Amino acid sequence: MARYSEADINKIRDATDTLAIVREVAPDVRMKGRDYWACCPFHKEKSPSFKVDPDSGRWHCFGACAEGGDIFSFVMKTQNIAFPEAVKFLAERAGIEVELDPRAQAEAGKRKRLLAVCADTAEFYATYLRRSPADDAAAARAYLSRRDFGSDIALQWKLGYAVGGGALVKYLRSKGHRDEDMVAANVAMHSHYGKGLQDRFFKRLIFPISDAQGQAIAFGGRVLDSSEPKYINSSETPLFHKRRNLYGLDHAKRSMHTEKTVLVVEGYTDVIALSKSGFECCVATLGTALTAQHVKVLSRTVNRIVYIFDGDEAGMRAADKAVEHIDKSLSSEYSASPVNLDVVCLPQGTDPADLMENESGQEQFKQLLAKAKPLIEFALDRRLDNWELTRPEERIKALNDSVRILAPLKGSMLARHYANYLADALTRAGGDLTEVQVLEVLENVRLPQAHFPDDEQGIEDFDITAGMSTSVDNAALISNPSQLSPVELIERELLALMIAVPAARDYIMQNQELNSFTHPMYRATYDKMTELVAEGANCSAKVLDEAIPGVAQLEVAYNFEDSGESVRDLADNLLYRLRESALERKIRIIRSDLQKDDENSKTHLEALAAASQELHRIREKRFQ
Ligand code: UTP
Ligand code: MN
Repeated sequence: MARYSEADINKIRDATDTLAIVREVAPDVRMKGRDYWACCPFHKEKSPSFKVDPDSGRWHCFGACAEGGDIFSFVMKTQNIAFPEAVKFLAERAGIEVELDPRAQAEAGKRKRLLAVCADTAEFYATYLRRSPADDAAAARAYLSRRDFGSDIALQWKLGYAVGGGALVKYLRSKGHRDEDMVAANVAMHSHYGKGLQDRFFKRLIFPISDAQGQAIAFGGRVLDSSEPKYINSSETPLFHKRRNLYGLDHAKRSMHTEKTVLVVEGYTDVIALSKSGFECCVATLGTALTAQHVKVLSRTVNRIVYIFDGDEAGMRAADKAVEHIDKSLSSEYSASPVNLDVVCLPQGTDPADLMENESGQEQFKQLLAKAKPLIEFALDRRLDNWELTRPEERIKALNDSVRILAPLKGSMLARHYANYLADALTRAGGDLTEVQVLEVLENVRLPQAHFPDDEQGIEDFDITAGMSTSVDNAALISNPSQLSPVELIERELLALMIAVPAARDYIMQNQELNSFTHPMYRATYDKMTELVAEGANCSAKVLDEAIPGVAQLEVAYNFEDSGESVRDLADNLLYRLRESALERKIRIIRSDLQKDDENSKTHLEALAAASQELHRIREKRFQ
């Protein structure tokens, strides 16, 4: 959709002070002969090879990067923004009003209001963290300084603290913001108990997420202790799309230009710790894997992306998912400026923030970076590692398995290169294979389905149905509750309530120590819900049902309106009954252990006493 007319674009071009714009990123720009020259802002150099024509706005680098374009592409590249934003930026600078069509105008108006909500929210949280004498603010400051993130770091990253209890809503109202905008920006939510709005984040350290220009568009909130979920993030809003936005991009931009490289890590704290230790060109995904859209955004500025995986299970899962980025665009004959995707896996049990804590870790990180492998090589090695290559039969299986990685590259130069790599690796292991033979095997591999959806509603980033009972079993279970134990029946009711009433879900998640649903399907459902909620994703019955077929029926199985109880009472009651049954069950198990296992009777007796006391305690509290 063309949102701006050709005439408007030209008007902006004519009114733009090209040199002033260029000077901001290339302060040394000056006249030499009849032209203006500077050191190229897009690569590192000592003598000027970047030429710009102030009249037309056209620029070209005669040095290493050999790039060129007009003033719009210049702004897009230096600020890492898309064309419409560049137009808007230059129009504002030149004091020109550009006409948008009415729908776009309404959209722009809304965007502006949501940005203002986010800006004031960030400010409110930051001020509270910096200034409040309250205990929670002090605890948050202490937490940060324990992690060696002092007040300078907090300031630089605009960290904050969300106290909750409606304080933010009150503040935003006092600044004249509309309730609907607070909800749309996802910093407030409608309250299901009582009327009005409640703060979306409470009792959490806040990491504002900014767009490339440094405007806050969303928030991540971390608990200060070890409770779950560790992070809650804004859900998708008109400003924030986790499949497109990256944490830290605004900070990393500058050094991304000069280094031409970006490090992609998993966590907020990783970005901050790395940047603090001098690795400034560093961004984090936001609870998702790297998407094709992220790659697109980054490759506007860099030609190398180093994807860094934590040394834990989630990191390894992300690593395996990264093969989805293997396609022909990585091969130079298919793309004008292909981006190099490299991979680093961190040592078991560490993330970048851990490594940055001491000098030896930083040194280790440097060495790991130096040994980064191209994504394709990494993926091939990972496949080869699964096999006992000294055995001929296994070598054949290893070939068939690993060659699939190359399927999306069929026919490209890269496919040939890596066919050679595979042939080499297998030959070294004792086989006798040529590139041509590997390519023959590759020819017969069926191309997998296109797997990296670019659309916003894309497929979820995980698959937890693996290992679960089939949908048929689930359906039978739901329609035939007579098979369920008393505890499972309560679990079923609790989940149904959580699915039907989002506020009840949040309440229940905060008020129970349950990672302990006994029924596997219910446990999976609960886990999936926590995951979605933590991600700020849609957690509707439909979404859940896609992951765990049959779950949607839970919702229709109940009609809470009829019970006459308030939703909160209902939730409290269910939680109580669940705890009670869980404890009763535990006591039964300990009793039977006691009978069977004389040797450890002391331990069992202690456990029995503890469980009985706990049961007594919750019953007493219940009937107070
Ligand atoms: P980590 O658990 O590795 O946290 O999750 P972290 O960022 O390293 O934080 P620290 O250093 O332990 O304090 C990595 C990222 O995954 C997302 C967040 O974006 C987080 O930064 N995440 C994690 C969630 O969205 N929700 C969670 O509950 C956990
Ligand atoms: Mn981490």
